[in-house]
Amino acid sequence: MERLAGKTAVVTGGSSGIGRAIAQRFAREGARVLIVGRKEQPLQETAAADGRISYVVGDMTRDDTVERIMDAVQDRFGGQLDILVNNAGWCPVQPITELTIRDYDRAFDLDVRAVVSMTIHALPLLRKAKGNIINLSSVGATHRAANLSMYVGAKAAVENFTRVWALELAQDGMRVNAIAPGAARTNIWNVPSLSPEDAQRHQDGIAAGIPCGRFAAPEEIANVAAFLVSDEASYVTGAVYAVDGGSGAL
Ligand SMILES: NC(=O)c1ccc[n+]([C@@H]2O[C@H](COP(=O)([O-])OP(=O)(O)OC[C@H]3O[C@@H](n4cnc5c(N)ncnc54)[C@H](OP(=O)(O)O)[C@@H]3O)[C@@H](O)[C@H]2O)c1
Repeated sequence: MERLAGKTAVVTGGSSGIGRAIAQRFAREGARVLIVGRKEQPLQETAAADGRISYVVGDMTRDDTVERIMDAVQDRFGGQLDILVNNAGWCPVQPITELTIRDYDRAFDLDVRAVVSMTIHALPLLRKAKGNIINLSSVGATHRAANLSMYVGAKAAVENFTRVWALELAQDGMRVNAIAPGAARTNIWNVPSLSPEDAQRHQDGIAAGIPCGRFAAPEEIANVAAFLVSDEASYVTGAVYAVDGGSGAL
């Protein structure tokens, strides 16, 4: 069933991992989807596999990227925007003893500032469409871990933006929700300094601590995103959906 027939969506970071799975799922449900990332090849490959997906190349931390996305929404979707998924994110792994203020800037520019900037720019069209926003948070926003202070701080901000924007936009018929994944099998887990064997051992250790005993497939996050933007979730707003294999229950 095409639950999103006639709808349009922007998914930031839609060329890999969770964002790509969400873009592909929305397209299969009938939506036209615009994805954004810095590297053109993965964007091109994702768009080539589904005629409903097109892309903009750009860095979400730059204001001109956000402006080009909104220009593309005008050109390709005739100014109709029903769904925004603020998905692009980055996770620095460092203790405070090693962090520099540049690490803070890099994490907060993408994980926080770009979310706010994209939302402000998209809002006039989203309000007109009585649309939907999904922000990608993380189980880390509420279940903290050492070496992740910048990331969990940024995601805690995103969860609170979600709740407050839901309050502010409910009267407009808009819904704003967040998804908080646990560990999902994506490139975010690639640690260049680790050998493939050490990286596997690291991930096996993490999987052993998850109640379900495994990482999520990105498609398992996309299933929840597809529900949240559908009419079946018409009374769901200001919610943070944990999709974490039970980690948040620990
Ligand atoms: N995977 C997990 O275990 C997990 C858990 C909790 C939360 N999350 C959250 O889920 C979201 C997606 O993560 P993921 O695991 O799917 O990551 P991923 O596989 O690394 O994908 C990240 C996507 O964002 C794009 N991106 C990164 N930096 C960008 C920038 N500055 N400007 C534009 N695009 C940018 C990447 O494309 P380019 O590199 O080409 O720019 C890619 O398309 C993030 O917000 C993350 O914090 C993930």
